[in-house]
This record gives sequence, structure tokens and C-alpha cells, in this order.
Amino acid sequence: MASLGHDVIGIDVDEKKAAALARGEAPFFEPGLPEFLAAGAHTGRLAFSSDVEHARGSSVHFLAIGTPQGVSGAADLSYLFTAVTELLPVLRPGNLVVGKSTVPVGVAAQIAVLVESTGASLAWNPEFLREGRAIKDTLEPDRMVYGVREGDTAAVAMLDEVYAPLLAGGIPRMITDYATAELVKVAANAFLATKISFINAMAEIAEASGADIDQLADALGQDPRIGRRFLNAGLGFGGGCLPKDIRGFMARADELGVGESLGFLREVEGVNLRRRDRVVELALDELPSRSGRVAVLGLAFKPDSDDVRDSPALDVAARLAAEGLDVVASDPEANEKARASHPQLEYRVDPLDAIVGAELVLVLTEWRQFAALDPRAAGAVARQRTIIDARGCIDADLWRSAGWRVISLGHAVPARVTQLVA
Ligand code: UDX
Repeated sequence: MASLGHDVIGIDVDEKKAAALARGEAPFFEPGLPEFLAAGAHTGRLAFSSDVEHARGSSVHFLAIGTPQGVSGAADLSYLFTAVTELLPVLRPGNLVVGKSTVPVGVAAQIAVLVESTGASLAWNPEFLREGRAIKDTLEPDRMVYGVREGDTAAVAMLDEVYAPLLAGGIPRMITDYATAELVKVAANAFLATKISFINAMAEIAEASGADIDQLADALGQDPRIGRRFLNAGLGFGGGCLPKDIRGFMARADELGVGESLGFLREVEGVNLRRRDRVVELALDELPSRSGRVAVLGLAFKPDSDDVRDSPALDVAARLAAEGLDVVASDPEANEKARASHPQLEYRVDPLDAIVGAELVLVLTEWRQFAALDPRAAGAVARQRTIIDARGCIDADLWRSAGWRVISLGHAVPARVTQLVA
């Protein structure tokens, strides 16, 4: 927002986080973000505070509060409602509150009643950004959705002013009611999760039949009605959004009495979790004694992120350690976050150091550094040359030619070559 020319004050109840942001330190790894923080500080358009009083005088107030998964699977809205309650005293008639948080359908209407009691109005304006590409997705979104009260042309005009540089670039914008705007976000995530689980279900069939999942995805993706994006088979989806959003969506559909409509999402989640089971099973098949050292390359839920929330990679690493294996992990950005929750694993900065003495190597996040590893260098330090590529990211032929046994998800497991000594 500051880069678009607005004067911005960011408020967070966490004093340390607000202070770090004010010093230009991003609280997580996101390519490009430190540069934007520095530019905002340089122009004087971006400041941070932990005191909501500093929001007084702003005309537009964005709500970007986390809605994590609660115990029942439904979204925990307590942080959001606390923030709204604290914001109410600083609102002035004519102000606009803009909801960005991902919420169960129906919540915006409740917040609107609170906001309108101050003479301000509410718009629901979901974001669709991906971690690792947050800056680009924010400044060049595929579309913008404004959920507003029927006939609230003032809210639409204010949002148009906020986003004027983006709209001038021709980004499509849609005006809807609150419920539709809330649903666009969770429906989009449910669709993306379904697409990933669809190709992972096909990977299960490919493994059993000897078909090649990558060629299958390429051929399917040629059909423009299907499209190749989000058809990468592998260890499945994780992170702070897709898993919790589909669970929250199912919980909300149940509350609305239409749980059956989203029954298929249970299967989407089932396929997703089975991929993790499959990798654990493949690893244990390779090391039936349940002892020995394994190298785990990748801990983040996806590359270009240090986020380990609901990370398939960290889950598999922890399960292998729980089986008795000696797990040595390496991730370019996520080692420290993983260590905080999983001190039982060993961590190395250099992936080759993790491979030293390993009887099995697993690639669980498709960082380009892992795709670029030299299989000969890895082979020289590993105890046994077996690699499980759970993200389809290494050049299998290259690794095979360097003497590695390569097991890839979505492909039949290669037969073990046994040397018989007479
Ligand atoms: C997602 C949505 O893409 C975004 O629009 C929304 O705003 C927030 O949630 P994000 O969680 O950052 O974004 O990650 P995304 O790129 O969607 O990947 C989610 C997971 O799916 C990752 O674990 C990734 O590895 C996995 N994935 C993605 C696949 O397994 N196969 C694919 O083809 C694509």
C-alpha cells in the first residue's frame, strides 16, 4: 500500500514484531519484502505501532488478522473479533473497514453490524496471494473482489481509489455481496486443493500400473479446460492456508446444513495425507531394520518460504525419526523454524553435509538448490545411493547414471538389483 503512494501505519499487538518491522526486519522469509519495507521507511510512508490509537485518523482500515484452525476444525475467529472490538473506538463516520482475513461465510455480515454502529462501513476484499510470491500477487492480482453492502457506492469508490494504480493496469474487479466475497476465497482454495489431490490420486494409480505421472500431467494439462498449473504430483499440499481452509469450509458447510455438498473435500484431504504415509512406507521398505541415518532435504511446506505450518516435509521427517531413524535435515530457509518445534531432528545448512553417511536421501521440498545437487558429489559422501524424490524435482536419469537407485512418487518402484556372490 505504501508503494502505491498511500500513507500507511501497520498495527500489531505483538510489540516485538511491530518494532522489528519498524527496523525493516520481516518476521518471515518472503522474497522482496525487506526491500519493500526499506523503501516504505525511506519514503516515510510506512510506519508500525503496537498501539491501535495510531490508527485514528486513517480513512481506510484493513483487517489482516489470522484465522487459524480451532480445535473443532472450524476457524478460530477470536483474534479477528478482538481486533475489530479494539478498532471500533477509533473509527469515524465515513471511514471504510476492509476485511482481508479468510473467514467462514457469514462473518462479514456480523462484523458489518459492529462497524456500522460507528458510522463507518465495511467491504470484504479477500486476498489470493501465495507465500513466496506475495509481493507480485498483491501488486498484480488475477482479480479483485469487493464484497459490499448493496448500493454502497462510497465503499466501492474508496477501494477504487486505494487500488487506482492496479485498476489502471486493467486488473479485473468484481463487486459482490459479503457472502460471495467470503466464499470466493475458500472456494478457490478448495478447488486448488482438489486439483492437487486429483493428480496425486492419479499418482497412486500410476505407481500401481507403471504409468508415468509427469507425462500424464503434461498431457492432461494440454487441454485448456484442465490446464497444467497445480497439477504437480508429489507429497501434497500443506502450509497455513489450503489444509485449514478446506477443514474450516467443511465445518461451516456442516453448520449451514449442507455438509454433503463438500463431502468430496474429505476425500481430497484423505488423498493428501496418504501421500505422506506412502513416503514413510517407501523409506521404511528401504530400511527395514528401522535404524540408520537418513538425509531429509526440505522442511518448508514449499520452496521460497520458511513456513513449516502443516508442512508435509516436516511431518514425514518427524515420523521417520519416531520410527527410530537418525534424521538429518537441511532446508535453505526453514531449519530454525523446524528446530523450534522439532528439536529431536538434526539440522545442517549444506544439503551435502546432511547426506554424509546417509543410507537414504529424501527430497521433500522442491527447492532449486536440491534440483541442482550434483549426484556424484552426493554419491561420494552417502553410505548408500538410494534417493526418494517426493516432489518430482530431480533429474532422475542424471542421478541413475551416477549410480543412484531413484524412487519417485507417481512412478513404479524400481526393482532392487541384488548381487549374488557365488
Ligand atoms: C495458497 C493459494 O495458492 C493462495 O491463492 C491463497 O491465497 C493462500 O493459499 P500458499 O499456501 O502460499 O497459497 O501455497 P500454494 O502455492 O498454493 O501451495 C500450497 C501447497 O500445495 C504447497 O504445499 C505446495 O507444495 C502444494 N502444491 C502446489 C502441490 O503439491 N502441487 C501443485 O501443483 C501445487
